[in-house]
Amino acid sequence: MPGFIAILDFGSQYAQLIARRVRELNVYCELFPWDAPAQMVLERHPNGFILSGGPASVYENGAPIIPGYVFESAAPILGICYGMQALTYALGGQVAAAGAREYGMAEVTGIIENPLLSMKSQPVWMSHGDRIEGLPEGFICLARSVNSPIAAMGDLSRRYYGLQFHPEVHHTPGGKETLQRFVLDICGCAPEWTPEAIISESIHRIQQQVGSSPVLSAVSGGVDSSVATAMVQRAVGDQLAAVFVDTGLLRQDEAVQVKTALHERLGIELIVVDAVERFMTALRGVTEPEQKRRIIGESFIRIFEQEAQRLGMPQYLVQGTIYPDVVESSAPDRAKAQRIKTHHNVGGLPSDMTFKLVEPLRYLFKDEVRLVGLALGLPEAMVWRQPFPGPGLAVRCLGEVTHERLERLRRADAILTSELDAAGLLRLSPNHSESGPQALSGTSQAFAVLLPVRSVGVMGDARTYQETIALRAVTTEDFMTADWARLPYNLLARISNRIVNEVPGVNRVVYDLTSKPPATIEWE
Ligand code: XMP
Repeated sequence: MPGFIAILDFGSQYAQLIARRVRELNVYCELFPWDAPAQMVLERHPNGFILSGGPASVYENGAPIIPGYVFESAAPILGICYGMQALTYALGGQVAAAGAREYGMAEVTGIIENPLLSMKSQPVWMSHGDRIEGLPEGFICLARSVNSPIAAMGDLSRRYYGLQFHPEVHHTPGGKETLQRFVLDICGCAPEWTPEAIISESIHRIQQQVGSSPVLSAVSGGVDSSVATAMVQRAVGDQLAAVFVDTGLLRQDEAVQVKTALHERLGIELIVVDAVERFMTALRGVTEPEQKRRIIGESFIRIFEQEAQRLGMPQYLVQGTIYPDVVESSAPDRAKAQRIKTHHNVGGLPSDMTFKLVEPLRYLFKDEVRLVGLALGLPEAMVWRQPFPGPGLAVRCLGEVTHERLERLRRADAILTSELDAAGLLRLSPNHSESGPQALSGTSQAFAVLLPVRSVGVMGDARTYQETIALRAVTTEDFMTADWARLPYNLLARISNRIVNEVPGVNRVVYDLTSKPPATIEWE
């Protein structure tokens, strides 16, 4: 491998962001809990370590510490925020509570030429309570800010560095250059983690894993399952059977787009199961959200089971698990989120079936999955699709799910999507900042919701008594928290106008102004 960076997670909300920034430099890295077994980290032969921030204070009882193997490896170290404090503490320097918590933007000024930080003054994002008061032996101060006399430090001969600020967030515009200097220059990694390299390595791994056995895949139309399927097909060709269950709960033209993209562009023989009526029958009369989800999840599993049996129960199943899912389930001390909604991953693993999993995206972030998808030949429109919940339009069609109401919702949703697309707002710009309100740079997810509420209107000279469409558009980095998108009034006006004019059965449009929390992104 041309280079590998191990990131030790001390409980930072930005740990995944650090990993994404390193990957953006085309260098492979992985996140490990700070107390992961040494063997697990060292078997990847790290060229350097990045120590994340974290909420603890180094003198607290039970505060996370830097494991001994990090120092013994003699590889370069970059400690960020808490990581810097832990480095200082471990090497005999002094950490103390700062007089005032420093939170927000600060200006950092370089003091001495060094391999990590450029000398020019730069705005940075600070978020810390403790700070460094005494440097460990061998270290010099590299930069200062008004509130942090030691905003950056380094032991140039051992190649140990510490930053009091966060280079990984967009609020630190020079952060990318700093990380680049650490990863490429100081650790000597080569920027060779490209989509092509990912694909060829992954193909090799899949071939090793499955040999000549048949493999089954459930395609949902989502980015992850499509890219995973395309990758496996590239690796094993005809050994793959890809099943697409048409639930009738997809967005306008989506089913056709999935079939076309996979079949015509990639030559994948999709086995399409038309289950529209089966889902509609199972959902008849059901209005309770969790019951809808249960019915959809179970119906999907039964249909998929039948198909698997028909295909002779292949031993291997493709899963579109991606890296954030893997990281979330092993993060240190992070309270496991309370279950607010049952997330049935339609297209996911039936729990009572025993497959061996093929997970070609297990170590990839969403951005990488998209780039790999493009490199595999999937169309842009599919690769950049906004996330869509497994239970589909059923959870956006509040009240009973009927053909007529689904069609109403689908048409309104298509209008919203096409208008956002025309305004260039269907994707979140990569420069969207991580926190704080900002000028709108796109949407992370935007959709229509059909409410089972009728209100009085007037069209022409006639009274109407029809249903309501709620528009939902949010910006978010991780979908755990989200802000409602400040869509321009004129755009909202056009969307509203088009919906009431073009969608029969709808005479009112409202815009959802709630963030998550307290609301969730979906309405059910
Ligand atoms: P909420 O509504 O919980 O949604 O704020 C967060 C993100 O998850 C998506 N979502 C789902 N995805 N199966 C999925 O695969 C589900 O059942 C499901 N429910 C919500 C939602 O669209 C948003 O992106």
